[in-house]
Amino acid sequence: MKHPVLFVAFFALAGISCHGVSKSSGPARGYPVGYLKWHRIGGTIKRGAEFRRIYANDLAFQRVGKEFPVGTVLVKEELSINTAQGGDMPGAAFRLSVMRKVGKAAGNKGGWSFEAYDPNTKKRISKAVLDTTGCYLCHVQKSANDMVFSHIP
Ligand code: HEC
Repeated sequence: MKHPVLFVAFFALAGISCHGVSKSSGPARGYPVGYLKWHRIGGTIKRGAEFRRIYANDLAFQRVGKEFPVGTVLVKEELSINTAQGGDMPGAAFRLSVMRKVGKAAGNKGGWSFEAYDPNTKKRISKAVLDTTGCYLCHVQKSANDMVFSHIP
């Protein structure tokens, strides 16, 4: 390694950007602006006809027991499967499925709101196109883990 000092500086900066609250807390509502700079949880998962990547904002790491705090935002980025190179590679993101902890008083879905966004238009996908009740009905299997499937350390 020719420039050990530069490497140390790089990792120090990377650490700051990963844990800086202002950068990765995300907006309280609407499209999860900047989610690609949040914490990546796990790898790229292939599920049926899509690839998935999971992102979490800083607040997700301030969990008390199993309970995520209000303001937690989790994003399931859904990507097409690109077969152009012969194998299955992650293509473009076609949907962002978002869970936002809004608090128990705000709803009956374990305190979460379930929303989906089109990453191209950045608009919310209407319930007529994608009924988000189905999100809850599947995620409720994980009610013992605050509705969350992924392991967030
Ligand atoms: C049939 C079951 C099922 C449905 C329906 C479903 N999900 Fe998920 N979701 C999962 C699984 C399983 C994971 C974990 C990632 C993986 O293994 O594919 C996940 C992961 C997530 C995550 C990351 C946090 C976590 O729990 O791991 C978010 C956010 C999410 N889903 C949001 C949604 C939203 C919003 C909808 C509806 C538009 C939805 N999901 C519909 C099964 C489902």
